[in-house]
Amino acid sequence: MIRIKELLIVSTSSLCLFLFTATSLKAQNPKLTLDLTKPGANVSPQLYGLMTEEINHSYDGGLYAELIRNRIFKDNPNTPEAWSVIKEGGAKATIQLVAANPNYVPADERRHAINGALTTCLRLLVDTGGGRAGIANEGYWGIPVLPNTTYNASFYIKGMESKPLTEQWAPAPKTAVPVIADNTAGPITVSIESNDGKTIYASGTINLVKSAFWKKYELKLTTGADVKPTTDARFVISTNRTGVYYFNLVSLFPPTYHNRPNGSRVDIMKLLADMKPRFLRFPGGNFLEGPKLNDAFPWKTTLGALENRPGHAGSWGYRPTDGMGLLEFLEWCEDLKMEPLLAVYAGYSLDGDHVDAGPLLKPYVEDALDEIEYVTGDVHTYWGAKRAADGHPAPFKLSYVEIGNEDGFDASGSYDGRFAQFYDGIKAKYPNLHCIATIGGKDWLGTRGKLTIRKPEIVDEHYYRNAWGMEEDAAHYDNYDRNGYKVFVGEWATTEGMPTTTLNAALGDAAWMTGMERNSDLVIRSCYAPLFANVNKATATVPKAWQWESNLIGYDALTSFGSPSYYVQVMFNSYIGNKVVPIAGANIPTQTRPATKQDSAANNMPQPIPGMFYVATQDTKTGKLFLKVVNATRKPQQVDIDLKGAGKLSSEGTLVVIKGDKPEDTNTISDPVKIVPVTSKIKVAGAKFTRTFDPYSISVLQINTLTK
Ligand code: AHR
Repeated sequence: MIRIKELLIVSTSSLCLFLFTATSLKAQNPKLTLDLTKPGANVSPQLYGLMTEEINHSYDGGLYAELIRNRIFKDNPNTPEAWSVIKEGGAKATIQLVAANPNYVPADERRHAINGALTTCLRLLVDTGGGRAGIANEGYWGIPVLPNTTYNASFYIKGMESKPLTEQWAPAPKTAVPVIADNTAGPITVSIESNDGKTIYASGTINLVKSAFWKKYELKLTTGADVKPTTDARFVISTNRTGVYYFNLVSLFPPTYHNRPNGSRVDIMKLLADMKPRFLRFPGGNFLEGPKLNDAFPWKTTLGALENRPGHAGSWGYRPTDGMGLLEFLEWCEDLKMEPLLAVYAGYSLDGDHVDAGPLLKPYVEDALDEIEYVTGDVHTYWGAKRAADGHPAPFKLSYVEIGNEDGFDASGSYDGRFAQFYDGIKAKYPNLHCIATIGGKDWLGTRGKLTIRKPEIVDEHYYRNAWGMEEDAAHYDNYDRNGYKVFVGEWATTEGMPTTTLNAALGDAAWMTGMERNSDLVIRSCYAPLFANVNKATATVPKAWQWESNLIGYDALTSFGSPSYYVQVMFNSYIGNKVVPIAGANIPTQTRPATKQDSAANNMPQPIPGMFYVATQDTKTGKLFLKVVNATRKPQQVDIDLKGAGKLSSEGTLVVIKGDKPEDTNTISDPVKIVPVTSKIKVAGAKFTRTFDPYSISVLQINTLTK
């Protein structure tokens, strides 16, 4: 005040100078003018969805609720990974894989197969009984124990004496088994217990019948009310009698989402439900393709009873069980009201092999048509009937099919022909299905090839960058040709933070999302990737759980959490209208992007890039206006906002803010809610107002216009 008074008594010229300075200072406020008189483009109702594949133990050790690791003993042909022997109180016992090497199964081991899928099993030899002998499973980085919880356990077991059950003419057994009398019949104890065996959290028994043939046993295990949640637990099947015991398909399920048998983890499904996703892209990603041509996602052997699912090689260094099979993906969609976006294998695999268009590709096209029929066919079709037999008579709605994944990696250039052959096959049988191409877009992979035979309707573009890259290119879609293809941003992420992202990544994500949302007449679908990561580190027995560094949702066996990027997804999809509102921005602050390696090589100077990003949409039915503002800078930004043509406004609005003190702030399994959205009510005095946006913040202002 004193300084202003002093200024007021100086000469007129000084006064002019003051007024000019004050005006220009004021003029430096960033300004956003929203033009509500001209509703802009339509917002795609399917703009935000999920992308998923088996990576980072997304399903096995993640969403898929099975707790037994290596349940059919095929994870590692050299050792019964995740299993150990129990021998206590003088009992003597050993365990050994049977028929583990898929390339060579000795005759005496072949007869222990249950069927063509369950060919490997675990043998427990108890040659001295009396004490406790058995097998223990360590789960996926522990077995989660919760109070008052009922777990469903099941397994195949048979007990025998060691004298081989073979004809005299059969070759001598490959593996010599010591002579042990068959005392196997009788009670077998099943328990969930602490890793040191001292605390039993839940236990029960089955009565093993005397039989040389496989039999399935099932029981329920219930924990008490006083149990403290822990992952320091194992699953044990034990006996005190001598004999030779064989085990296969050992399974343990906690309660699942919507109580589905063979279902999903409740906590993770709740996190997903909060994202309000509109579609699910599955089964990949690289997981669709596999390293070799015969490692592609084998949808036909992921159907029906678990007994018929051998699992397969996978793409990320561990062997998926395929317990999360095609129908489970579809039921996941059903549970969260998402539309499936099915990716079909298109004859190219990660190690670079491909199948040329023509007769050799025909079976692949037919396989994709079968798969589409499984999803959409009525019960009178062959595959629709199969789906009904699997428990789901109603067909699923499917509008988009993606042909392959990242075929820009296919250096042979075969995708042009492969895409055309799939496109023609699919359109001939399903003219209303939209076919998505994986090349032809403006992303790095898309520009590596051209589609000349068939014009794609929709192209999948992938972007993985750091926050600078995302923020610099946030206006990426502003100038795309509106008469060309539509865009599906099928994978994108700001890759900062490990194993889940930081606040800085969330700022980059939000900047990028303002661009997708503003252009959602063109960008009709988008999904962040990867979705999941089990955050466990390597132990003495197994490697670390994740393979991709920055991921959206993290978990261990017991709990889960969203990264700051996750909360940006929740926020953007919870507050969105059906029409884009044009915004004119002025005086937008900048930040200086440090020179990249390429810049330095080209002698380019560090570049100024925008530091603030924004988008607005309106729900034309309710009148709700959603203004999203990202302040990526380290300074508060005082922004003048003008809602041109807003008419009457409700005096109360809503503000939701995600922010932190430092860009590297993050959420972790032990500090899961450090960065979360905070919602408050705000007063709205009129159509013109000034609001300060905190440093490193992502905000949504919901203002309620009063529709007539
Ligand atoms: O999202 C991780 C991987 O990135 C996907 O599997 C693949 O499509 C992309 O290269």
